[in-house]
Amino acid sequence: MIPATRNNENAENLYVRYVNPQWVRLLDVLQMNVSYVRCSGAELHTADGRLILDFNSGYCVHNVGHNHPRVVAALKDELDKNGPAMLQSHVADLAGELAGRLCRLSGGRLSKVFFGSSGSEGVEAAIKFARAHTGRSGILCASGGFHGLTCGALSLMSNAFWKEGFGSLLPNTEFVPYGDTEELELKLATKAFAAFVLEPIQGEGGVLLPPQEYLSSAQALCRRYHTLFVLDEVQTGLYRTGPFLAAHHFAVEPDMVILAKALSGGLVPCSAVLMSDAVCDSVYSSLKRALIHTSTFGENSLAMRAGLASLDILEDERLEQRATTAGETLRSALTERLAKYEMISEIRGLGLLNAIEFKAPRSFKRRLAFETFAKIHPAIFGQLVVMRLFRDHGILCQVCGNDFMVLKISPPLVVNDVQLDRFVSAVEQVVQLMHDSGSFWSEALGIAQRVVRSI
Ligand SMILES: Cc1ncc(COP(=O)(O)O)c(C=O)c1O
Repeated sequence: MIPATRNNENAENLYVRYVNPQWVRLLDVLQMNVSYVRCSGAELHTADGRLILDFNSGYCVHNVGHNHPRVVAALKDELDKNGPAMLQSHVADLAGELAGRLCRLSGGRLSKVFFGSSGSEGVEAAIKFARAHTGRSGILCASGGFHGLTCGALSLMSNAFWKEGFGSLLPNTEFVPYGDTEELELKLATKAFAAFVLEPIQGEGGVLLPPQEYLSSAQALCRRYHTLFVLDEVQTGLYRTGPFLAAHHFAVEPDMVILAKALSGGLVPCSAVLMSDAVCDSVYSSLKRALIHTSTFGENSLAMRAGLASLDILEDERLEQRATTAGETLRSALTERLAKYEMISEIRGLGLLNAIEFKAPRSFKRRLAFETFAKIHPAIFGQLVVMRLFRDHGILCQVCGNDFMVLKISPPLVVNDVQLDRFVSAVEQVVQLMHDSGSFWSEALGIAQRVVRSI
């Protein structure tokens, strides 16, 4: 298949000149720099007539699919009203309505909501609120997590790659291994931590599912040592894994939950921090502190309308069930078709948050090639899989940000069976190529050389 290319050179030149030239170089190296002209459901149409299937969903943003007509209509309707979109001097009624629905869907002790515009901003709020509630400054986190790239959120991430060059971050942030309750208890017993913040399923860490009792034990330990149990459901929330929250798989009732990404249908930035009354009261504790934590765009009516429309769609189209059944179909098809290949380590996931983990080959010839690339750059192997899927098969997906040997599979929840089949066949062909043909590895060498030259 002939690679699609961008058609709008001028726009690209402006981007290179005024935004981020390195991003354009990276897309060029990976042969993924194409111009998208129309996106709908799980389909992305390029300027040169290619159809790409989106199995990344903007990292779990497009749960209802791209440009869902009901979200688009709700936004147009809201614009036509000429209402007080961002007055910040009034009671934002749509915010109350959306908050009420989010609390009801989340259940447990979550009964108040703070709205922001990004996942990171939600994490920042959670840090402040936990500190205000407990009077402690420490934040404990699970190693390998991803929580966002603002200074506070970044402090909660153990992977040094993301922090390099940015100076000192929040003090008193510490890490415990994900899944390990003994280490967790040792840390919590110091009573230095306001919150234990983690993703219930680590997305960028490699789509890592917790041991069955881990989250409930972690929650019990947090309660014992008066540390807030905070779940970052920025990727896992909004029915991505089946139920509204991934927490619902594990019967836990967190003190705070952070939602973002899919919350507003992929068209308007929006995040929400759900919390108990007690946590909220600790922050907004008096008239004087009524605005002690706010965000200009937080409750804007477009984000709220998009959020309400997204919840309607997720419920009306029964995307909870769709995520569950499509996920099962996908995992069993991948397991059946890929199990025989030596470089497949595991296929795992819940709902439509899934992963294929690769491993180094045992056979001498392939191992030599694999290790050469791993030495040049640990991401090259994974990016080669991503590039092949994109260029040769019209599939967009990505490796995990904190584990380059794991291909993350997170299509819109509206993905249909034909699209799932096309994905499985594409992956099988790429996996077969890496096992049976020298061309996969010789191309890898070419890319590796270009990467090294570009660094
Ligand atoms: C689990 C998780 N938390 C937080 C964030 C940060 O969200 P944002 O990029 O909207 O700031 C991300 C982003 O990928 C994420 O995956």
